[in-house]
Amino acid sequence: MKTDLLANKTVIVTAGGTQEAIDPVRFIGNRSSGKMGYAIAEQAALAGARTILISAPTNLPVPFGVELVSVESARAMEEAVNSRYEACDAVIMAAAVADFRVENMADTKIKKMDTLELKLVKNPDILKGLGANKTHQKLIGFAAETQNVIEYGKSKVLNKNLDMLVANDVSKQNAGFNVDTNEVTLIYPGGQVRPLPLMTKIDVAKRIISALAEL
Ligand code: C5P
Repeated sequence: MKTDLLANKTVIVTAGGTQEAIDPVRFIGNRSSGKMGYAIAEQAALAGARTILISAPTNLPVPFGVELVSVESARAMEEAVNSRYEACDAVIMAAAVADFRVENMADTKIKKMDTLELKLVKNPDILKGLGANKTHQKLIGFAAETQNVIEYGKSKVLNKNLDMLVANDVSKQNAGFNVDTNEVTLIYPGGQVRPLPLMTKIDVAKRIISALAEL
């Protein structure tokens, strides 16, 4: 249902798993489907926000009313987000950003050989950079953990200077990567914790958008 919860606001949503090139035809990727981020972008647009979806490759259709910016790597996503940061009111970082990239991408397709060593170097932490340079924006991050979800979440929300963290235990069935449901806990910098029941990613997206409007 269309509302005006976020009327006159510009919201950036990131989604999908970044792809880090090895050579022109190969990359290192991850299992993110992009479903959570696309659902959030759809709900942000329905709530009346100008919504910019900065997405790594996915198989999903662009939600109605959402502006798509397509990127592949973490560094391209960082550039796309940073260049729009000042003019936006909120960033929701739902993308699964690769923590490492190949140091030197090969210019031509690597030939078959018995062993191949790839040197990986650290990617920028996009969200941490946004937190460090925050002026007026509201920042929402995600955390996928397999243990001590709340504990890690509380330190992440402070460490990255976030306004809210959406934490989920990806070891649970029906939560996290590649499924249509999710069970998340909202964590705030003051230490408040709001566990939500298992629900569809669309319903989780609605709750995140109302929580953003409250912020
Ligand atoms: O520290 P961790 O990777 O668990 O943090 C997850 C959050 O940080 C997510 O919101 C993700 O989009 C963001 N992130 C990022 N840049 C990275 C790694 C994660 O923006 N290199």
